[in-house]
Amino acid sequence: MRIDVVTIFPGMFEPVLGESIIKRAREQGFVEVELWDLRRFTDDRHRTTDDYAFGGGGGMVMKPEPIFRAVEAISSQASGGRVILLTPQGRAFNQDIARELARERHLILLCGRYEGVDDRVRARLAADELSIGDYVLTGGELPAMVVIDAVVRLIPGVLGQEDAPAKDTFGMGILEGPHFTRPREFQGMRVPDILLSGNHGAIAQWRRREALRRTLERRPELLKRINLDEADRELVREIVLEMMS
Ligand code: ADE
Repeated sequence: MRIDVVTIFPGMFEPVLGESIIKRAREQGFVEVELWDLRRFTDDRHRTTDDYAFGGGGGMVMKPEPIFRAVEAISSQASGGRVILLTPQGRAFNQDIARELARERHLILLCGRYEGVDDRVRARLAADELSIGDYVLTGGELPAMVVIDAVVRLIPGVLGQEDAPAKDTFGMGILEGPHFTRPREFQGMRVPDILLSGNHGAIAQWRRREALRRTLERRPELLKRINLDEADRELVREIVLEMMS
């Protein structure tokens, strides 16, 4: 996969993309990330990327020309990329969208700044607008990094078998239950006996029950979105009864 990022702060990315799993994925050739400094595509002495909003009311808007030029330059190297604008007005990013993007060969992420981006960028260039949550950040750089992280870890081969994404929270469509490692007892808190039992069938059932319990307690709306089989439904009934008693 190739990911191009258009930003006025390319320096924000390297510290994040140069560590851990994303670093390894880049070194191993699973993903190539190119950072494009939007200021390179300006044509004035001050390298201006924003301007006053038509209609007044204050606030600056990112100019369209440098962004169009940057996307043209990227497309001359590799055409057909899916252009995504990061903005708080976008579609809410989630694991389903991450999975969808992980199947693409080429993403172009446009990071907005200031009060917004000239709407002709959205109209002509961006196939998608994504938001990472209902809060306003100072720009699309952190959201772009969030999207890159969530997508790259789903590229087949990037994670080992050990932490296969199908098993994570949201991979299953619900939250995961609790995890434990050594020691067996810590500050008076014991690891549940079942996890030490070696009975893999019973452990799998316990994990499913605890995942359902956590989802029911914290994010019950997620349960409506997945298909629970009869065994799950029975577990949910038991958990609800426990919660009421
Ligand atoms: N830019 C500013 N805030 C944002 C958000 N929540 N998601 C995506 N882009 C943004």
